[in-house]
Amino acid sequence: MDKPKVVLGVSGGIAAYKACELLRRLTESGHDVRVVPTESALHFVGAATWSALSGHPVSTEVWSDVHEVPHVRIGQHADLVIVAPATADMLAKAAHGLADDLLTNTLLTARCPVVFAPAMHTEMWEHPATQENVATLRRRGAIVIEPAVGRLTGVDTGKGRLPDPGEIFEVCRRVLARGTADADLAGRHVVVSAGGTREPIDPVRFLGNRSSGKQGYALARTAAARGARVTLVSANAALPDPAGVDVVHVGTAVQLREAVLKAAADADAVVMAAAVADFRPAEYATGKIKKRDDKADPTITLVRNPDILAEISADRARPGQVVVGFAAETDDVLANGRTKLERKGCDLLVVNEVGERKTFGSEENEAVVLGADGSETPVPYGPKEGLADVVWDLVQERLV
Ligand code: CTP
Repeated sequence: MDKPKVVLGVSGGIAAYKACELLRRLTESGHDVRVVPTESALHFVGAATWSALSGHPVSTEVWSDVHEVPHVRIGQHADLVIVAPATADMLAKAAHGLADDLLTNTLLTARCPVVFAPAMHTEMWEHPATQENVATLRRRGAIVIEPAVGRLTGVDTGKGRLPDPGEIFEVCRRVLARGTADADLAGRHVVVSAGGTREPIDPVRFLGNRSSGKQGYALARTAAARGARVTLVSANAALPDPAGVDVVHVGTAVQLREAVLKAAADADAVVMAAAVADFRPAEYATGKIKKRDDKADPTITLVRNPDILAEISADRARPGQVVVGFAAETDDVLANGRTKLERKGCDLLVVNEVGERKTFGSEENEAVVLGADGSETPVPYGPKEGLADVVWDLVQERLV
């Protein structure tokens, strides 16, 4: 089988050096990568580096190898074009269809999925000109990954950092796997909760659970790859922030509720993949609870946490909002799932059977997605991202 053909466009920003890592990941995982830098990108990383790492000649303009018509061919033959970093200037050129070098020509001839990973200073990202260009590109079906927040060039920090190359690679992999430029969640805001809450007992102890957060992170990553604006409310998951996703880190069920309700206010869909503790200690001991021979062993009294899924299902923040819950069951999986779906009032419930090798911490999952309309969609054992895509397909069908 032919290797998937990827064009890596690099525009002129300091983050160009991070594109070397992205290139390495793409080539090592069996992609045929053609690097097309802009002239200014070569001020940051030279042509020799791109050529050596990709195994292909590198040119910035349309006048090299003219007999091969590179300005048309490279784009036509690509399975994916990823521009990382994409500067404000590159986004403007792409949005307006300018074609004054090899990369911008390639963008006009490509009929495959196109992903932009912008990197620039916060002011440039937030400028209405840039925001309108981003909106134009997204409307046309391109995927524009939200920049990460953090240290920028120099001493300043803010939104505008190129996301981690490993996470950009994951977006590319997802888009290639789907094989479509169809960003069917573009213009949608989705909220995903992930991980497991921890309810503190004292400064060193908590009540927790074994959720790794992997399924929720897979949901966030796949939604971003399908063009959605994603807010991920993450409870204690030891996982890197997915590219292009706004991540809100929380600890307890009460904090998770607050963050989910806030993000859900303008959301088209909310997916509660987090394992939320049903109970929390009624009292928090401000000092470490010690064992004492002169006193009885402590008893921890628990109180109920709010049921966030039931609350957002009963009181939708906007009409037509789609609400999805998860349930891990050990017996009578489908019957219990159906009862839970009705009790919670959500539109879809992803039911997992938990047991030995199944679900917790693993990379794979098997589930049945129950719909409030009576539908039943079995998802065979496979990667958590496969299940995530099925969930988004079902959400997509229900969005108004
Ligand atoms: N959930 C929630 N708030 C809670 C508990 C659970 O929003 N306090 C959500 C979870 O995120 C999940 C769904 O509800 O999407 C199902 O969780 P589960 O623990 O199975 O439901 P329970 O109502 O606790 O049912 P059970 O009695 O089986 O524990």
